[in-house]
Amino acid sequence: MIRQLIIEDLKDKDLHCIQNLENEAYSHYSNSWDINTFKDILTKKDLYVFKILKDNKNKIIGYIILFIVDNISELHKITIDKHYQGLGYGSWFLMQIINALQKQNIEEIILEVMKSNVSAISLYQSCGFKRIGERKNYYKIKDLNNKNKFNAEDAIVMQLKL
Ligand SMILES: CC(C)(COP(=O)(O)OP(=O)(O)OC[C@H]1O[C@@H](n2cnc3c(N)ncnc32)[C@H](O)[C@@H]1OP(=O)(O)O)[C@@H](O)C(=O)NCCC(=O)NCCS
Repeated sequence: MIRQLIIEDLKDKDLHCIQNLENEAYSHYSNSWDINTFKDILTKKDLYVFKILKDNKNKIIGYIILFIVDNISELHKITIDKHYQGLGYGSWFLMQIINALQKQNIEEIILEVMKSNVSAISLYQSCGFKRIGERKNYYKIKDLNNKNKFNAEDAIVMQLKL
């Protein structure tokens, strides 16, 4: 199954599909990005890697966004359609991107991840990332029961040396 997956650059026509995946994946954190954020990234192609993952029927099932500065890359986001999670797609997708960055002489990838995001932390660990620090109260998450209230959550900082 994984052998039939396709990785492509994001195009304008894919934006609505990406927005739907984003809303579904992050609604419980109430911190999903809006379409203008994605559009803005698309205008900065020299600074960002923005790739989509498609299945053998050409359906978009995930996306990844990394920021590149000098020889360092920051992983901003990786998302897999909730119906396809836990099947190895995320780790396969991330490993393909890591291999491509290695060929471009990127020396390290860093990221922040919510301390409670167990599946993402497992994914990063299985791809070789190591925990290098913590940022207290890094995320401000809107309380789903009270729109005027924000809850803080710690971030774990992780690094992969290439
Ligand atoms: C995080 C995410 C991208 C992982 O993608 P995935 O395709 O489900 O992950 P995989 O199936 O490749 O699994 C990768 C590792 O995580 C583990 N994992 C996956 N889902 C898990 C879960 N719900 N709980 C615990 N571990 C989990 C797997 O066991 C695997 O570890 P292993 O290699 O040691 O066996 C996906 O769950 C997702 O899109 N989540 C919502 C968005 C998000 O939080 N993104 C990350 C922050 S930007």
